[in-house]
Amino acid sequence: MKLLVINGPNINMLGIREPGIYGKNSYADLLALIEKTSLEAGIQIDHFQSNHEGAIVDTIQAAYGAYDGIVINPAAYTHTSVAILDALKAVSIPAVEVHISDVDSREAFRQVSYPGMYCEKTIKGQGIDGYRQAIVYLQEKYG
Ligand code: DQA
Repeated sequence: MKLLVINGPNINMLGIREPGIYGKNSYADLLALIEKTSLEAGIQIDHFQSNHEGAIVDTIQAAYGAYDGIVINPAAYTHTSVAILDALKAVSIPAVEVHISDVDSREAFRQVSYPGMYCEKTIKGQGIDGYRQAIVYLQEKYG
């Protein structure tokens, strides 16, 4: 099984960025957790981060035929991007949405998720452990 973890804008700033909301773990810590989870699960996991919506759309399109599952934190594009929603629908790869913070308890503009309309599960408010939970979910269901 091959999974792809996609992170949107500002996720590369983890640890520096609003630690009261997103925690003290850095992006490098997140990549280490993904690596550890892939070793434990015995599956290949690639990762991609971009601050650019089109680059995320390109990466989702390139995943077609290459990956069995996608874990995606679209970050701020969660609340605006029909393009990312349409790309996920286009490739039709099982996907889980992750949010480090509990978006439900935040501003009104964070209450809509366009990519979440495609994703079969959303994990929020679990910190970076949410990515591990998403990987385990996809492996148990499709691995
Ligand atoms: C986020 C929540 C989004 O609302 C925000 O724009 C982010 C990160 C999260 O992981 O909690 O950049 O997706």
